[in-house]
Amino acid sequence: MTGTDFVPLAYSKKIANGKITWKSPSNIALVKYWGKKENQIPANPSISFTLDTCATTTTVSYQKLEEEGNEFSFDLRFEGKPKESFRPKILTFFQRVEKYLPFLKSYHFTIETSNSFPHSSGIASSASGMSALSLCLMSLEKELHPEMSGEYFNKKASFLARLGSGSACRSIEGDLMEWGLHSDTEGSSNEYAIKYPYPVHEVFKNYQDTILLVDKGQKQVSSTVGHDLMHDHPFAEKRFSQAHTNLTKLRSVFADGDLDGFIKIVESEALTLHAMMMTSLPYFILMKPNTLEIINKIWSFRERTNSHVCFTLDAGANVHVLYPEAEKEIVYQFIKNELVAYCENGQYICDAIGYGAKKM
Ligand code: DP6
Repeated sequence: MTGTDFVPLAYSKKIANGKITWKSPSNIALVKYWGKKENQIPANPSISFTLDTCATTTTVSYQKLEEEGNEFSFDLRFEGKPKESFRPKILTFFQRVEKYLPFLKSYHFTIETSNSFPHSSGIASSASGMSALSLCLMSLEKELHPEMSGEYFNKKASFLARLGSGSACRSIEGDLMEWGLHSDTEGSSNEYAIKYPYPVHEVFKNYQDTILLVDKGQKQVSSTVGHDLMHDHPFAEKRFSQAHTNLTKLRSVFADGDLDGFIKIVESEALTLHAMMMTSLPYFILMKPNTLEIINKIWSFRERTNSHVCFTLDAGANVHVLYPEAEKEIVYQFIKNELVAYCENGQYICDAIGYGAKKM
């Protein structure tokens, strides 16, 4: 399916008003999306674990307008209070998706969101937020067109979410989601994410992710600026092809439950992401001293104990500590004894692999 398949034909039903709520999770990339082309097309394919606890709940109330307006009509509320600062982002999103959701100017929307994680935790809410909003709009479209299949619903929700924020397209389903054209993955697409279609060993089910909040401040580099840095980047092409290779390597890692292979790819991806930022112009260091302390502690713990704990990073200083469920007790003790001291105000979030968004 491509974009044109998501332009709907005439709707069979008329709906005056209603209310829809979706809870959609965040996700953590194992092979990173970093660099994009026009229209939110990724420069390389990526794969992520869908999370469970870190999520956004969005309620969209809609009221049919007497006559269709020239502008989009919506109010925004965040955690119970009006939130005008979200307006530009939502407006851009509506402009990008209007072609695919032709009813957008026929309704007044009230969009209410709340996050399960603390507001200023340095955790990006764009993936969970944009996927939750896309799902609410898809639920309205399904009311207008009840014959819609479940498969189309999910694909189009992912397609719309991508137009809001690239990584959001990987938050619709779980537990492993792949986004971006990859010659070794059947059904892969640049326009939406798919459920990883090959065998996955038991050891990767219920994988744990403890998120260490090293720096809860505002992001130093927005993702838009970050992706832009990959244009004219001296190492961009090599990096993009490395992502393809890593995805191919993950196929047997997932099938065989090869934890050592998994660790090598995941940690290398995280460090490569940061290496790209350090070698762009302008350049950035997004790790903090405590990020490095944590990485070194993880490495020495692994050497000492033969544990399979590893880390990954997003475009910031926080550390995602990943480990199999079977090692939950011992790794959690290690985190409490040795890593929490490096977190801002000792804060961290215990999360695990999740199975996608839920209609409430
Ligand atoms: C480092 O999805 O936030 O988390 O498409 O501009 O909204 P936009 O970017 P965004 O980028 C996320 C980048 C990343 C890696 C990843 O999630 O794959």
